[in-house]
Amino acid sequence: MNPMKVGLLGLGVVGGGTWTVLSRNAEEIARRAGRRIEVTRAAVRDVAKARARVGDAILVDTDVHALVRDPEIDIVVELIGGDTLARELVLEAIANGKHVVTANKALLAKHGNEIFAAAHERGVMVTFEAAVAGGIPIIKAIREGLTANRIQWVAGIINGTTNFILSEMRSRGLPFADVLAEAQRLGYAEADPTFDVEGVDAAHKLTLLASLAFGVPVQFDRAHIEGISQLAAEDIEHAERLGYRIKLLGITKRRADGIELRVHPALVPAERLLANVEGAMNAVLVKGDAVGPTLYYGQGAGEEPTASAVVADLVDVTRLHTADPGNRVPHLAFQPDAMSDTPILSIEQVSTSYYLRLRVDDQPGVLADIARILADRSISIGSMIQQPSHIGGADIIFLTHEAVEGNVNQAIERIEALPFVRSKVTRLRVENLI
Ligand code: NDP
Ligand code: HSE
Repeated sequence: MNPMKVGLLGLGVVGGGTWTVLSRNAEEIARRAGRRIEVTRAAVRDVAKARARVGDAILVDTDVHALVRDPEIDIVVELIGGDTLARELVLEAIANGKHVVTANKALLAKHGNEIFAAAHERGVMVTFEAAVAGGIPIIKAIREGLTANRIQWVAGIINGTTNFILSEMRSRGLPFADVLAEAQRLGYAEADPTFDVEGVDAAHKLTLLASLAFGVPVQFDRAHIEGISQLAAEDIEHAERLGYRIKLLGITKRRADGIELRVHPALVPAERLLANVEGAMNAVLVKGDAVGPTLYYGQGAGEEPTASAVVADLVDVTRLHTADPGNRVPHLAFQPDAMSDTPILSIEQVSTSYYLRLRVDDQPGVLADIARILADRSISIGSMIQQPSHIGGADIIFLTHEAVEGNVNQAIERIEALPFVRSKVTRLRVENLI
């Protein structure tokens, strides 16, 4: 059988890794796919740099549009990143009847509905295993392995860069900027690393997971996003003493009134597996009604782990490209005409537990007044610690039972207005993941 012909848009970290894995494992991959999968051309900006990687065996130039129009190409692999040129090229490839494999979560989080609709219309596949959690086959697991389940929630560490930063800061006491520079050197970080640090990359991925888990359209603009740049070292230390680790989590949860969709740092009990995921590793917990909790762990970024997911998609497309489009696995796990309009809840409607830290004057009645404000808003205190502050007064930390975030925000406003409160209230969410 003729080989499946692939055009690579981009030969950087992921494109280069894809070339290497496809070349090294060509025989094994052909045995699985039923035919060889061959890269026949690539488009980049710097041809000399690309040539140093792939030699003279394939056509390499800068003409990205010629690649997506090339009648010889069966599958276009988009690995240039961004959401402007990438969107244009992916839509052009689809219009030309090409299947598309992409690792570009930013593109799909923002333009996924348009791209999947175009692919459905044209009868081609758009696959994106590498877009979420690098080498972990989490998309296939949710879309296919867990298809019997009504999924209840998904929670995960889905950004390698921030997990690497938090791990190195906690275990080696290294400064934020140094660890970020190391993550960039290792190829984990996005072209714009603020996407990693501010939680945007995790939100791109979470948006896709929510669509796959609950059969709702891709709604990145409804995600609540907080990153790690505002996280204070003292809260990492307090969390540790209280038996928790702080992780940047992506959480999406089905509730009776809608879907929670949020990325933020959270305290996770130190005994949970997720709390012990270190470095650039990712882990995703998925809870289904039939299977219960399931956990997926692996390298969330980097050259070959991400290439592993890209090549898995290439094999899937190769196996399925002759199948009747109506019988293929739907792009977002649910049939396009069976998507749900369940609303995404605002962050004020979210219900979880909280860590609240503040500095107060050490005098009678302080705790009573704060406890009254919390009780008036149905916020129950789970535990509390108080310690003298080295600059006078006392530091108090409350851990609450589950409460509605809107109520917690109102309580914080009232507490900060009390005359004996000396600081803003630091508010972090606590996720028990059960
Ligand atoms: P790199 O920056 O390493 O590589 C980008 C590649 O695209 C380079 O070969 C670059 O060419 C080429 N390129 C960029 N713009 C153009 C253009 N206008 N015309 C032609 N070629 C262009 O990025 P990564 O490989 O790290 O990331 C690629 C995608 O994969 C992104 O969407 C990213 O979010 C995603 N991803 C990355 C992961 C990782 O660990 N790095 C993991 C999972 C997903 P040149 O080198 O010549 O400039
Ligand atoms: N910048 C991303 C991360 C790459 O750090 O997780 C993998 O998607």
